[in-house]
Amino acid sequence: MILPIFAYGQPVLKKIAAPVEPGFSDLPALIADMWETMYHADGVGLAAPQVGHSIRLFVIDTLQLDKEDGDEAEEKGFKKVFINAQKVEEAGDPWAYEEGCLSIPRIRGDVERPESIRLKYMDENFNEYEETFTGVNARVIQHEYDHIEGVLFTEKLKPLKKRLIQRKLEDIRLGKINPEYKMKFYNVR
Ligand code: NI
Repeated sequence: MILPIFAYGQPVLKKIAAPVEPGFSDLPALIADMWETMYHADGVGLAAPQVGHSIRLFVIDTLQLDKEDGDEAEEKGFKKVFINAQKVEEAGDPWAYEEGCLSIPRIRGDVERPESIRLKYMDENFNEYEETFTGVNARVIQHEYDHIEGVLFTEKLKPLKKRLIQRKLEDIRLGKINPEYKMKFYNVR
């Protein structure tokens, strides 16, 4: 089932998400819906707060990016579910990459983040992992990880760029946009 994506301005996007308990009801269904919602909106990642659940869950598919980059991509893409991710460390020189977000349609901007991230997480069967990701894989994880910490990429843009997008952000918050997929705006009928 395709779920509405919560838009910029929704308080759930600014909350620190709670751990997922193993007894969380209908977790497999929620994960299946998140994949469907993400692909429908042409995204490479989606975090649970973006569909209204303040829990530490996100899904990522960077295999799609491999196709765009051909064989030149340094690292292989992956398709994974991340439950209760905890950052161990970030390392390497910060580099700029143009990010976007399904909760903030039609706004893109360069964000600087460290090269790699080491993460503890569980998969959909609650198997535990500790792993280091680099390059674009790290980038997408860092973006989604921010979502479960209540942080949006627009907060990490340079001050000038922040000013330039202020009006557009306000339009999104007020629901004055026509997104290509179903969205849920805060306090907008
Ligand atoms: Ni996002």
